[in-house]
Amino acid sequence: MAFFTWDQKYVLGVADIDGQHQRLVAMMEELHEAMRAGKGADILDKIIMKLRTYTMTHFLAEEKRMQEVNYPDYAHHKNQHQEFISKITEFQRHRAENKVGLSMNVMNFLKEWLVNHIMGTDKKYVPYFNEVSVG
Ligand code: FEO
Repeated sequence: MAFFTWDQKYVLGVADIDGQHQRLVAMMEELHEAMRAGKGADILDKIIMKLRTYTMTHFLAEEKRMQEVNYPDYAHHKNQHQEFISKITEFQRHRAENKVGLSMNVMNFLKEWLVNHIMGTDKKYVPYFNEVSVG
């Protein structure tokens, strides 16, 4: 059974953003699958790096959009993004220094963070983004 699959309940109704979220879910699934299959640390590290890079790309896209619509919760939202990137960076450093393996704890953290963020924090900007796109 898949660890993390895209679900309609994650759809925000903002096409490009939904596509980016869908890709993030697919990358987390890819990482879990590689871990489950016992792939080497070098392969896992590459997927983690790819996930981190794409997450940053997505966050920047959202932040740019929030600024364009003068989104009132911009600072708080951006702060959540930064904290998540810091967590991944910290984990990468920890892996490099201590040869720490990827665990289900880490996978669950990534998944839960993304689901909670999309359905809680991201959801709040939808009326602002849609107002601009139709107006
Ligand atoms: Fe879709 Fe705020 O990240």
